[in-house]
Amino acid sequence: MDFKNLINKIADNYIPTIKEMAAILELDEEKSQYLFRVADEVKKIYHGNYIHIRGIIEFSNYCRCLCKYCGLQADNNELIRYRMTPDEIVENTREAFEAGYKTIVLQSGEDMWYTREKISYIIRNIKKIGDIAITLSVGERDFDDYRQWKEDGADRFLIKQETADENLYNSLHPHSNFKNRIACLKELSRLGYQVGSGFMIGLPGQTTETIAKDIMLLGEIKAGMAGIGPFIPHKRTPLKEHPVGDGFMTLKAVALSRLLYKKMHLPVTTSLGVLSSEHKDIAFKVGANVIMQKVEPYKFRRLYEIYPKKIGDESTIKEERLRLEAYLKSLGLEIATDRGDAF
Ligand code: 5AD
Repeated sequence: MDFKNLINKIADNYIPTIKEMAAILELDEEKSQYLFRVADEVKKIYHGNYIHIRGIIEFSNYCRCLCKYCGLQADNNELIRYRMTPDEIVENTREAFEAGYKTIVLQSGEDMWYTREKISYIIRNIKKIGDIAITLSVGERDFDDYRQWKEDGADRFLIKQETADENLYNSLHPHSNFKNRIACLKELSRLGYQVGSGFMIGLPGQTTETIAKDIMLLGEIKAGMAGIGPFIPHKRTPLKEHPVGDGFMTLKAVALSRLLYKKMHLPVTTSLGVLSSEHKDIAFKVGANVIMQKVEPYKFRRLYEIYPKKIGDESTIKEERLRLEAYLKSLGLEIATDRGDAF
């Protein structure tokens, strides 16, 4: 089938086959311009010209996991580990709220020092600050933890599928498995969380069909948000020699996701920005409508090294927020002022 026709049909709610999706992901630079244009049109209809800015506090880089791509993996004994105290996290959130953030993402490695009770304390105290949406991103935990935190007031949970290929998933995550990850996503959804998922582009053995399956899986698990980012090698991991993921493929995956999932929140991932600022700018024009900004103290940002990246000059949360808003406005975008809930 003619690719423009197929793209139009998907924009009109036709569900494509995996083969059809793979064909779209294989479009060359010239042909993909049509995909990008239609994805931008769909985004504008459902999200206007608005970008949601989320604040993220990376509050601990301790991790019990052995993800083969991640610099925080437990075997990396060169990394200096840190933890923020529950009160530090609450105060950090207050500052972010005062600087204009309406969503705070609390992310860490899988660090069991933060017991169910400690996280409950953090959520309850943040909720006293004001109308601020809390996204937890603390990995695989007991379902009773998830249930308690929802009761405490947590709104969303970010836990990525990483790849829809079960064998690949299991080989990259020797400490856990794909079935458990999907069970977590489904349980979180059942508990009433808005769930965020996502996957990486450029994992070993990944094909365009794998990426197509990843995009379909986002729908099956009813993701409210999906972060799609290129893999970036980190020298203290088993995948240190594996090449960096492709920025152009990342953009096509974002655009195709936008055609299928009109209301979903699709962030411009940090890893895409680290790969190239050009790709980052383009992502906002091919379907993406969210960006995350770190708000924790700089001394911690430097140590939250999932993959290598530059940490800019130190400035206040407010200054950084204003700089980010100015950058988005320079791209012709507007800043959303609501909480940006899913669906
Ligand atoms: N390159 C790109 N993204 C990575 N992540 C982890 N390690 C890497 C890497 N080396 C992503 C994963 C994880 C998120 C916090 O960061 O998708 O869910």
